[in-house]
Amino acid sequence: MANDDKYPVESDRRRFVKGVVGGAAISGALATGAVTVTSTTTPTGGGGGIMNYFGANRTLGPAPRGLPQIPMEITDDGELAGVWPEPESETLGDGTEFVRSAAEIGGVEYTTEWFQYCGLQTFEGIVPDNTDEDALFRYDAGVYDWMDEVDGGDVMLTEHFEDYDDWTTQIGDPDQGKPATGTWRSEEVPAEETIPILVIKTDQLDFDAMDERTRDWMEAACPEDEDGGRYIAYVYKCTHFCCVPGYRSLAGAPDFGADNKIYCNCHNSVYDPFDIVEDQFPSLPRPEDS
Ligand code: FES
Repeated sequence: MANDDKYPVESDRRRFVKGVVGGAAISGALATGAVTVTSTTTPTGGGGGIMNYFGANRTLGPAPRGLPQIPMEITDDGELAGVWPEPESETLGDGTEFVRSAAEIGGVEYTTEWFQYCGLQTFEGIVPDNTDEDALFRYDAGVYDWMDEVDGGDVMLTEHFEDYDDWTTQIGDPDQGKPATGTWRSEEVPAEETIPILVIKTDQLDFDAMDERTRDWMEAACPEDEDGGRYIAYVYKCTHFCCVPGYRSLAGAPDFGADNKIYCNCHNSVYDPFDIVEDQFPSLPRPEDS
């Protein structure tokens, strides 16, 4: 197996901390808020094991699995952020040290190793102890008209989603919620390593229909706003061949029953953003595991 087919070991990376106040602040907040950092977790996925994660159910097309979810938090200033657990050093049996970000959220072990696809695992922003990046969500250029009100690079704020139950567009039904596209942990990285995200504020999540494990996860991972709407976020790269899909933004979506779903027009895969499933994939082994 070639080395680039393995999960990178990050412990030898040297990070220059640029005094990113927001990054430090939110890192601390995320580690001590609703999230409990697991300091004793074993390196799940090492050796090419099975990695479980939560994501948007793939309902059609060649994509092999669901679109991975990013658990979220809202800061005291109304900023939207993805959970980036405090990185911790771990040691494998042969003495090799590596750094891992993992936390228990709603009874589920969340780790940034969920994002081992499309080469994301090699992106600078996914390096667990990369302190150049904070955990805040930021807008990109946007595909929705409403995003003319914000600038690319602005931090996503709850105040921009207050009209979530009124928002609509030409594709799909009203009352689905309000979406935004953006980036995560990509401020200081090369353009080709930008991590695209989709965020939706919605009241379409049917907690009563979820099994207990999924409900506990979702209640912890999808923060509720003061008006009762909840936020849900995804890494916005198709699990098939890594295209950035569209949610209520691509004209071809209705042809595939995807009016209210996430639609990838590269090869017509569809994901339901409000049908959350626990999915899995064979994780990449660390170099020393093979
Ligand atoms: S369906 Fe092929 S890249 Fe999305």
